[in-house]
Amino acid sequence: MIIKNLQLKNFRNYREVKFEYFDGINVISGENAQGKTNSAEAIFYLCTGYSPRATRDKQVIFYGEEKAVINAEAVSRFGKVDVEMSFFTDKNKEIKVNGVPVRKIGELLGNLNSVFFNPGELKLVQESPEDRRRFMDISLSQLSRNYFYALQKYKKILVQRNNLLKDPDREMILETLPIWDAQFVEVGAKIIAERNKFLEKLAPFARSAHSFITADREELDVSGDYKYVGSEEEIAMQLSEEVKEKREKDIELGYTTVGPHRDDIKIKTNGIDVRVYGSQGQQRTAALSLKLAETEIFKDRFGEAPVLILDDAMSELDSSRRERLIERVKNIQTIITCTEPEVIPGYEKYNNIRICDGKIKN
Ligand SMILES: Nc1ncnc2c1ncn2[C@@H]1O[C@H](COP(=O)(O)OP(=O)(O)OP(=O)(O)O)[C@@H](O)[C@H]1O
Ligand SMILES: [Mg+2]
Repeated sequence: MIIKNLQLKNFRNYREVKFEYFDGINVISGENAQGKTNSAEAIFYLCTGYSPRATRDKQVIFYGEEKAVINAEAVSRFGKVDVEMSFFTDKNKEIKVNGVPVRKIGELLGNLNSVFFNPGELKLVQESPEDRRRFMDISLSQLSRNYFYALQKYKKILVQRNNLLKDPDREMILETLPIWDAQFVEVGAKIIAERNKFLEKLAPFARSAHSFITADREELDVSGDYKYVGSEEEIAMQLSEEVKEKREKDIELGYTTVGPHRDDIKIKTNGIDVRVYGSQGQQRTAALSLKLAETEIFKDRFGEAPVLILDDAMSELDSSRRERLIERVKNIQTIITCTEPEVIPGYEKYNNIRICDGKIKN
């Protein structure tokens, strides 16, 4: 998939601008606070329906304005795709795909695909399991709408189950819980099965990307908890057993202690936990390798690469890692932001866009 251009109107610090992207590497440079991340954010929005910055939709509208519009024209395996998103101060955002209104995010997913890295993504290898689940969820939701719907359903059931567990009426809990648990297990097993498959595929891709970038100096191991294994049905049986086992404990604690909302991913370089012992450059390389592996999964599934967005990915990487990273991504459409284009090896060969105060300079 190739994004041809991106138009922004009253989006963040942009009044009106059109970016034209090339097939290979696109270097977006500019000083701090000029709008580089904002433009990357817009692409991610058009792919997934939400911001990678965990902001509220309305915050993207240019201060004091009432409406912002972002639009991208792309070419995918389905032909031309045009996605438009309008944000309003007084109502929810509106989305159109090829001019046709889309009512649910689920229907937007899969039209444009992206893999997004920015320094915030380092949380992936540094912080809580929640960030690693989010990584899987964003990726899997773009890969399969059914996953996205299952995840939405699971979150709803989990909230309701937790509310029930806090009820003072113990008799009622014991009567009602089995009904909730049947649904909980069914949807939970679907999510676990998909995540297992995802991680099994991701691991060898991540290992290969990481060896490449580090010139074989480091080996990356990625694995899931794999507490529940086998087919979806088998996972459902195992999960169901554990849910039953933990019922008493759950009631006592007032929340659900088993299920895919407790999953984690283990990430090791050269056998050591990169989260605890990794250097900054190592952590960044590991996070990038996971993202590169994600692009491979998209290629595998759809027969075409997603657009890879590397927002401020180069700092902390030594020149060898930077060179090898560029070497690795040059054949897929990549949008790289940086303050100085010189940090991108061979930048002269690529599409260079300079941004200053929400405007394109060249
Ligand atoms: N809703 C908005 N309306 C107008 N300006 C906004 C809005 N939201 C954010 N901005 C401005 O956008 C600028 C930040 O842009 P952005 O995060 O894209 O910078 P950047 O070029 O990526 O900088 P850095 O190199 O520091 O990462 C800030 O100056 C901020 O005030
Ligand atoms: Mg930025």
